Formats: sequence, C-alpha cells, structure tokens
Amino acid sequence: MKRHAPATERNRAFILDVLRPRLAGRRRVLEIASGTGQHSVYFAREMPWLEWQPTDGDAASLESIEAWRAEGPENVLPARRLDVTSDWGDVEADAVVCINMIHIAPWEATPALFAGASRLLAPGAPLVLYGPYRFGGVTAPSNVEFDASLRARDPRWGVRDETDITRVAEERGFARRDVVAMPANNHCLVYERSGSGPT
Ligand SMILES: C[S@@+](CC[C@H](N)C(=O)[O-])C[C@H]1O[C@@H](n2cnc3c(N)ncnc32)[C@H](O)[C@@H]1O
Repeated sequence: MKRHAPATERNRAFILDVLRPRLAGRRRVLEIASGTGQHSVYFAREMPWLEWQPTDGDAASLESIEAWRAEGPENVLPARRLDVTSDWGDVEADAVVCINMIHIAPWEATPALFAGASRLLAPGAPLVLYGPYRFGGVTAPSNVEFDASLRARDPRWGVRDETDITRVAEERGFARRDVVAMPANNHCLVYERSGSGPT
C-alpha cells in the first residue's frame, strides 16, 4: 500500500528550492504523476500556504499517496486519478508540477500534459517539470545509460529532448522561463502559461 522511493528523499530539497519562489503567490497546485505520494506530503508541509492536489494515472499509486496523506499535513487533498492522456475532469489549480513522468511514459503524454494544463491554467501560471533531459541531443553518460534501460523496458519510453518539450509547450500556449540544473544530471524546466495560444 504505502510505497517508498528513496530517490524522492534525495531530490526533494533541491526541487523545493525551485518550487518555493515560483509557488509563492499560488493557491492550489496540481501534481501530475505523484507516484508514492512522498513528494506530495513533503512539498505540502514545506509550503503550508498551498493546497496540494496529488494525482496519478495508476491505482496502486493512488493507494500509496493516500497512505502517506493519512500521516501528512492537512493541506494535501485526497488523491485523484488523472491520466494526462485522458479527460482531466473538473480539477482546479493555479500551478502544475510534474516530476519524473515524461521519460517513463509514451511521448504522447508530453503534449497531453501541456494541452491539459493549458485548459486549466490562467496566463502567468507556472508549470514545472523535473527529470533527466537531453539538450540539443546531448545529455550526461548516466542519462544515456538510463535512456537505454528505459527503452529496453518499453520502446515508447526514453529521456526526452528539451527542444521537443519546449516546442510542444509553445504550441499549447506556454513559454519556457527557466532551465535549472539539478544534482544527478537532472534539470527543472520551468514553463509559464502565456496570454496567447489554446485556452
Ligand atoms: C517514475 S514515477 C515518478 C513518481 C513521482 N513523481 C516521483 O518522482 O517519485 C512515474 C509516475 O508516472 C505515472 N504516469 C505514467 N504515465 C502517466 C500518465 N499518462 N498520466 C499520469 N500519470 C502517469 C506513473 O503511474 C508513475 O507513478
């Protein structure tokens, strides 16, 4: 039920440093692909002015999120099932965070993520991605190895290129605002809903 991903404890403080200033004026955060739920309770505890909405497309993850939530701060909302490639329902938020999903899902999940978020977010709202990325085709050797292992598990998975991500983001009404280098050859890609593009 309650699952544990050790990597979340290694990366969470670094991700928090990126999130805190960008979520300072926000009220409700939609977390896509919350996984175990460990990040959800940590970020909600560290940013108590927020309502944190954890979601995942996978039923076992929702159970784990709920188990963590039971011991967590009160500003974590009940976990919701949300597959980015399906109907997002009546979810509300003024920021979106998605950690370690787009390399471990088919490419279609990336345009679906930005399309769903573009319907949800008002101009100026942030969308923050975290994970391993290529930049102009180039990435660290550890990410090249990781990419091979992902593709061996599912040929539709793989480390994505920031250029491709930003292209689909722009097509769906987002502008790239920041690229923040993180430990272990990961990055945060920070996007902002523009005043133009699909609504
Ligand atoms: C590697 S885990 C990352 C979980 C968590 N964010 C973390 O960093 O520990 C990837 C997560 O993406 C979710 N996922 C994959 N495809 C998805 C989709 N189409 N919509 C929503 N979640 C998805 C999986 O269920 C899984 O929980």
